[in-house]
Amino acid sequence: MSEPVSNDRNAPLVLGIETSCDETGVGIVRGHTLLADAVASSVDEHARFGGVVPEVASRAHLEAMVPTIERACETAGIRLFDVDAIAVTSGPGLAGALMVGVAAAKALAVGLGKPIYGVNHLAAHVAVDQLEHGPLPEPCLAMLVSGGHSSLLRVEDVTAGVDPMGSTIDDAAGEAFDKVARLLGLPFPGGPHIDRAAREGDSVYVDFPRGLTSRRDLERHRFDFSFSGLKTAVARWVEARERSGEPVPVADVAASFQEAVCDVLTRKAIDAAASEGIEDILIGGGVAANSRLRALAEERASARGIRVRVPRPGLCTDNGAMVAALGAEMVARGRTPSPLDLPADSSLPVTEVLV
Ligand code: KG4
Ligand code: ZN
Repeated sequence: MSEPVSNDRNAPLVLGIETSCDETGVGIVRGHTLLADAVASSVDEHARFGGVVPEVASRAHLEAMVPTIERACETAGIRLFDVDAIAVTSGPGLAGALMVGVAAAKALAVGLGKPIYGVNHLAAHVAVDQLEHGPLPEPCLAMLVSGGHSSLLRVEDVTAGVDPMGSTIDDAAGEAFDKVARLLGLPFPGGPHIDRAAREGDSVYVDFPRGLTSRRDLERHRFDFSFSGLKTAVARWVEARERSGEPVPVADVAASFQEAVCDVLTRKAIDAAASEGIEDILIGGGVAANSRLRALAEERASARGIRVRVPRPGLCTDNGAMVAALGAEMVARGRTPSPLDLPADSSLPVTEVLV
């Protein structure tokens, strides 16, 4: 892990806990410096179900929590008593899973006598980039794409609130990757497998639909996404192939599907930034690890004079460092900590960054 940059030496030491889905994440940061990012994933336990099973995730968090906290402290070379504040994902996410993290964070806050910050998972996906690329440009346009969310947010000060500009009206981008992977016989979670398969494929092999991009749709849903029609189109195409007895060209279908998703995501993100006169786009969430999305966003944004920031893949998927990063920013900006009875709120609105 990195050495604290000089002006971070006296910055608050914050431990962040993330348990909104299937990753038990414990991160430790000092200011903008990442000291530890321990993650225990239960993804293998969900694979045979083709999606995350909430009860399985909750139990796994319970088992992984203490060892993951210990591992993070060891990596950071700190004792729990050194921590200045605890941050935890309060929501949105799976209710039972969130509860495990929130309960652990409360126990630490009480035991150590330190303040607790219950934060929004989506805002944490934005804040994490500070650990890699320094202070966030203000304002910036954040595109969050993962298994549970696909949103375009205008961010002025991530500790004060974020402004939703658009989101998916049906499936999340990562959900579409996971469902299409399943159709193609690829393992769960499907994103990385489609990404890999697509490298050998032809992205113009099938012209799959681009959701909510017709002139009429743009009137009502300029910055919204829809991926369920695309998923159905892939299913129909694959079924037709199978019925005719011909083999399904997995790499070509993966590449064509991926192109359709990345085309719409990048087009709308750049349009949203340009419409607000914003010159910086930040991409976060698991799907931000997608190689085509990164390349296309870079190519199209630079043609418009817009910069793109994407954290490295390990910080894009769910982790504790992102929660610690947002917590550290809350402390630095003097935000009031959360009450000790803060809730785990599975449907916490994106506008509420600190509970
Ligand atoms: O942010 P994340 O770890 O958890 C959620 O909050 O959902 O995102 C997981 C999602 C999964 O749907 C996974 O398939 C997708 O991110 N993903 C990818 C890639 N890596 C992970 N999607 C496309 N390409 C990738 N390389
Ligand atoms: Zn997430």
